[in-house]
Amino acid sequence: MLRKPFSSRVEQLRKLLKQQGLDALLVTNGLNVTYLTGFQGDSSNLLVAKNKLTLVSDTRFETQIRDECPGLDCEIRDAQTTTLALTCKLVQAARVASLGIEADNLTKASYDELAAQLPAGLLVDSRGLIEQLRAVKDREEQEKIRRSIRVNERAFEVLRARLVPSASECQLAFDLEHQMRQFGASQAAFKPIIASGPRSALPHAIPSRHVVGESPFLLVDWGSLVEGYASDLTRVLILGKAPAKYRKIYEVVREAQERAIAMIRPGVTLKEVDRAARGLIEAAGFGKYFGHGLGHGIGLQVHELPFLSPIRDGHLQPGMVVTVEPGIYLPDFGGVRIEDNVLVTPEGHELLSTLPRDYEAMQVQIN
Ligand code: GLY
Ligand code: MN
Ligand code: MN
Repeated sequence: MLRKPFSSRVEQLRKLLKQQGLDALLVTNGLNVTYLTGFQGDSSNLLVAKNKLTLVSDTRFETQIRDECPGLDCEIRDAQTTTLALTCKLVQAARVASLGIEADNLTKASYDELAAQLPAGLLVDSRGLIEQLRAVKDREEQEKIRRSIRVNERAFEVLRARLVPSASECQLAFDLEHQMRQFGASQAAFKPIIASGPRSALPHAIPSRHVVGESPFLLVDWGSLVEGYASDLTRVLILGKAPAKYRKIYEVVREAQERAIAMIRPGVTLKEVDRAARGLIEAAGFGKYFGHGLGHGIGLQVHELPFLSPIRDGHLQPGMVVTVEPGIYLPDFGGVRIEDNVLVTPEGHELLSTLPRDYEAMQVQIN
């Protein structure tokens, strides 16, 4: 028997499997295996049947599985076989009539091997079931995300305090990753985006050798991974006298973000939250310069359900944690994105990130 909260997550999944008429699910997405069991290794499959839960792994992880997942049944393959072949044997022994597979996390080669070994018609595309559960965070997950945000914010405060004009985007990215780890992150949740001057118009700019003192504004988008959970924030620092047009787009983005955050509560649709920000940016004449969705869930992955977007169906539920990150990107001039992390509560929302966002507060004297 697994310990909580993993046992509760498995039970929730079993309810979903029953609703779908599935006898079992083969979990091949490593993050989904972690979510259900606490196992943080890789290259392992989890078979979730009605009365049986089995992790199929190899000798590299034997001790780790014992430590991380006490009470979990485990089949360890030997060097003569593959994890997939052993998984097939277990499925055959379980005598299931329908087996869900995570079709978006299985290579064609692995699918072909499963299909060749197992009775015809057994495999059912059941992608997204665990991702649906992961969209709503339990208390333990919410705490980990809070810790990740704290680490992220402390790292940024150090970056800001130590900023010098001669620093390159690359150096800052390196220093920021270092600080995140110093404060307790296992790693960055994604490569930091550090974009100075006109490069900030590239929403996912790769840090370059560009020296930040040469431009009056600097965009920083960074995230840390703490106990497996991600945070994802963006701030723009104003390093000198920025053109009036830059302040203009900053204020539009700032207001759009505020309006969208104010909308967040259970029951509101994902499209409505996106619209609240996008409508304001469009009305200000910058609609075509905001090409991405408004935000996304964060958790074990940096981008996961739910997606705040004009093309996504669904609504917010208590326990979801989303980014709210409107942006305006003017080619060859510069861009603004402001990104915060928000928890949906039963009554409305809680803004989890605490760094200031007012234009004045983003000004830094570095000369
Ligand atoms: N850092 C990537 C994003 O904001 O989605
Ligand atoms: Mn981001
Ligand atoms: Mn984001």
